[in-house]
Amino acid sequence: MKNLVSLGLRHENQKLFILDQTLLPHKEQWIECHTPLEMIALIQRLAVRGAPLIGVAASVALARFAENGATSEQVLEAAHALRAARPTAVNLMHAIDEVALNSRDLSVQGIVQRTEALFDEDVSLCHEMAELGSGLISDGDHILTHCNAGALATVGAGTALGVITRAHEKGKKIHVYVDETRPLLQGARLTVWELQRAGVPCTLICDNMAGFLMQRGKIHKIFVGADRIARNGDAANKIGTYSVAVLAKAHQVPFYVVAPHTTIDLKCENGSEIPIEQRDSQEVRTDKAPLDCNVTNPAFDVTPAHYITGIITTRSGDSEKYSAMVWAPGGKPLANSF
Ligand code: MRU
Repeated sequence: MKNLVSLGLRHENQKLFILDQTLLPHKEQWIECHTPLEMIALIQRLAVRGAPLIGVAASVALARFAENGATSEQVLEAAHALRAARPTAVNLMHAIDEVALNSRDLSVQGIVQRTEALFDEDVSLCHEMAELGSGLISDGDHILTHCNAGALATVGAGTALGVITRAHEKGKKIHVYVDETRPLLQGARLTVWELQRAGVPCTLICDNMAGFLMQRGKIHKIFVGADRIARNGDAANKIGTYSVAVLAKAHQVPFYVVAPHTTIDLKCENGSEIPIEQRDSQEVRTDKAPLDCNVTNPAFDVTPAHYITGIITTRSGDSEKYSAMVWAPGGKPLANSF
């Protein structure tokens, strides 16, 4: 397989490395991943995370497994296990289906080719969405984002954060407010790190400060990513996104979701069909709460379509190239042929 390099994943000289996102921003440590089982563990402990990235990373691990001599049966077994590593982000299922499970060709060459294509496609989808979405941002905008939907969550420029950083590159004077994103602080740890690297002015806030800022007129637009979007436009994203969307509606702040077509699940009619991952209670309890207190820890929530101003996504155009579009899901559900 060719070398594949992104902010959080490196496939170089037939070795796969993952930037351990649990250690950011204070430590940049790359871990070599040798097997699909190791990749499943990395995905589950969020060393590698973000909907598009886990799909690509799982596929690269599978392709490495095939290149290292796994039989077709072993590849299929690993594909099923990788596909089930996390339940909400449908990009993971799409990627593994595309690379292995939906294909009759399980030759090493076939798996490798489809994996390389998946990587290149994610780069170009992020680019297309960033170009189009950055047009929705005006000079002087104060933007709120939640979780991390940046280059760390994809193999390209990111989804929501790709749009924001592209607006900055175009010379727009923007300021980004970043929800810290409890319980695991993807906003504080990862999004702020990315924005600082890109030189985008930003301010970190606790999740419960967003309403206050909107009430004071300090937020002009909101951009978030997604892990799975149903046919009617309901969008699952990191827990807390729904609260932001409701606040946005109350304060008439435009609320945009940015996600490629690989995040859309036409099999889900609406958001109630999207499986929501429950994670370990200790992530919420940390070492601050009584050790025996009850905890619930849903990792994602679903924002109903009517709270969403527009979904910046992608669709296939001429000559199989994908182009970006804005879908206002208040209208009709997407057709099968989308
Ligand atoms: O649990 P995580 O950190 O994988 O959750 C990630 C998110 O919710 C992101 O917003 C989403 O995957 C979009 S990434 C481009």
